[in-house]
Amino acid sequence: MKNINISFFLILILAVFSLQVTAGELMSKSELEAEATNIVKTFGSMLKPKLKEAIQTGGLEHAINICSMEAPRIAKNLSEETGWSVKRVSLKPRNNSSAVPDTFERKVLEQFNARQIKGESSSVITFSEIIGNKFRFMKAQGVESVCLNCHGKSIHPDVKKAIVKHYPEDVATGYSLGQIRGAFSLVKSL
Ligand code: HEC
Repeated sequence: MKNINISFFLILILAVFSLQVTAGELMSKSELEAEATNIVKTFGSMLKPKLKEAIQTGGLEHAINICSMEAPRIAKNLSEETGWSVKRVSLKPRNNSSAVPDTFERKVLEQFNARQIKGESSSVITFSEIIGNKFRFMKAQGVESVCLNCHGKSIHPDVKKAIVKHYPEDVATGYSLGQIRGAFSLVKSL
């Protein structure tokens, strides 16, 4: 009887302990998700107006110059300010020094494509996971009509020329509306 009582209490203690651990992880995961979502929003709100303004003032070729300078700069600044690693990745990377996905990102991007094909809107597709001591978060970036100018199926020859000047090995074209162009990829060490 004594033995049974002791085992019972041990199991109870273990159960309570594991519940607490799970609750702790769940809470911090949603907090981390909220933080990551905010950083992604900031990235978008810094880049998109710059892109639009550049197209309006100097046309698409000028916008390519701006994008090639501003996008990596914004990612770098945000990483420094927030302590997260912040970048954009794609299965068809234009910037082949920063946007090439690692194994995890490749797998998630492939799942994003599958989810989009099944009917989920690219604007709401996200994924997050705690792996070891790292929290990883990705948010899909869908193709809108303005994107087609530089990532679409028929690119104006002058625009193509400007792209190839900066990115001689560019593969980031041929997209259509609603497809997933790539994703923001954020990592935080826990
Ligand atoms: C004026 C041309 C232009 C337009 C319009 C444009 N992009 Fe890009 N895009 C670029 C350039 C240039 C890069 C490479 C930037 C760099 O070096 O980081 C790029 C890179 C990207 C990347 C990073 C991955 C990679 O391939 O390097 C994503 C994601 C992306 N664009 C999504 C979009 C989306 C979504 C839109 C529409 C909202 C859009 N782009 C509109 C020119 C453009």
